[in-house]
Amino acid sequence: MQTMEKIKNLEEVRSRCNSCQKCPLAKSRTNVVFSDGKPNNKLMLIGEAPGFYEDQKGIPFVGKAGQLLDKIFQSVGLSRENDVYICNTLKCRPPDNRDPLPEEKAACREYLDAQIKILKPKIILICGRVALTSMIDTPLGITKVRGKWFDGPNGSKMMPIFHPSYLLRNDSREKGSPKWLMWQDIQEIKKVYDAL
Ligand code: URA
Repeated sequence: MQTMEKIKNLEEVRSRCNSCQKCPLAKSRTNVVFSDGKPNNKLMLIGEAPGFYEDQKGIPFVGKAGQLLDKIFQSVGLSRENDVYICNTLKCRPPDNRDPLPEEKAACREYLDAQIKILKPKIILICGRVALTSMIDTPLGITKVRGKWFDGPNGSKMMPIFHPSYLLRNDSREKGSPKWLMWQDIQEIKKVYDAL
């Protein structure tokens, strides 16, 4: 069998994921959740892990958090289907939506790395605390680093953003609130996206 580094085709990576048995989540999953949106080299979003609805449908970000994410993109004229490639650090759902374990993240990492290596996105959005700890080596939490640009793989720019489920728990839109900050971040992202 080919090693993952040699695979140049996303559909082959997906097919490896679909038969993956590298960690115990393979036993409890309904579906592998590989990606959604058009593969493209401009904008990728990396979330945490599938939840209940994602596991049922095999598509990332289809629950309430996903619906809010769609609206956030729409607010700056970006469409989820056409403009963003969406994936997660884990391709299978952790039971009861608990945080991914380090060994699960390690087992799944080669699939995420292959997605990034094949697509070479110019902008990578790091969505929430769990994705942040996987992708960026910083002692700072998401509230401190959101909205800032970091150097990413293959010369990309990475920006951590709040997870939409955090926004759903924080309803205020007042200046300085998480929703207000997300609005600043998505406008900055769109500005850089348009300049690509
Ligand atoms: N939250 C995530 O981080 N990813 C999903 O796919 C769904 C909810």
